[in-house]
Amino acid sequence: MNRTRRPLIAGNWKMNGLSAASTSLAAELAARATDAARSGSLRADVLLCPPATLLAEVGRLVAGSPIATGGQDCHAEASGAFTGDVSAEMLADIGCRYVIVGHSERRSLHKESDAIVLAKASAALRAGLAAIVCVGETAAERDAGQALAVVERQLRGSAPSTSAAVVVAYEPVWAIGTGRTASPADIGEVHAHLRQVLKDHLGPKGNDVRILYGGSVKAANAGAILSTADVDGALVGGASLKADDFWGIVTAV
Ligand code: 13P
Repeated sequence: MNRTRRPLIAGNWKMNGLSAASTSLAAELAARATDAARSGSLRADVLLCPPATLLAEVGRLVAGSPIATGGQDCHAEASGAFTGDVSAEMLADIGCRYVIVGHSERRSLHKESDAIVLAKASAALRAGLAAIVCVGETAAERDAGQALAVVERQLRGSAPSTSAAVVVAYEPVWAIGTGRTASPADIGEVHAHLRQVLKDHLGPKGNDVRILYGGSVKAANAGAILSTADVDGALVGGASLKADDFWGIVTAV
């Protein structure tokens, strides 16, 4: 962790959450974050990325608390005939400050290329949102010794080079939802490499970009992961669906 970059703990709810349970989760987290900020113990930015159906409601519940909201994806265009899609401008319109782009589930299940992810990240910046650009290798790519080359290619291909209003999330595909986390040594190696690529890509502003780790982060392993050099926070899936589990990660910072 580097003290000049404020850590970010982001919850990606994925396609989970109906209104009743989700509103109590968001309200509970907003109350805890407000208390922590008042007592001076909140050491991270906190972000919730619920499904699009809940974004407005969660946004209302966390308004006035230190918690921000973000989308899980956006279209590259601002508006138009794109049935089922949501634009970055629409997310900004309901108070979002972030949007995740290029999550491995979108890259694999929706066949999103680096070029598509770059267009979405650029749309996010156009709309005034911070883009959380996800990268990560598969198990086969890691076993073939290609992890660093894969994440470098994804980062160069999908992160806009004109702005530092970008957050990078390193999420090894084999660690997502599997209970397997990368070791702090492996995480540190990839994050250090991504930092070099960012400095090459953005110049000195590459030092300001936060690099999150994601993949089976839990309260029990968060301390070790978050104390690794160049890890500036976490992108949390399953453990972001329960207040105690998610808050355990926030307080591990
Ligand atoms: P899990 O924390 O459930 O492994 O998910 C990680 C992730 O994909 C967050 O975007």
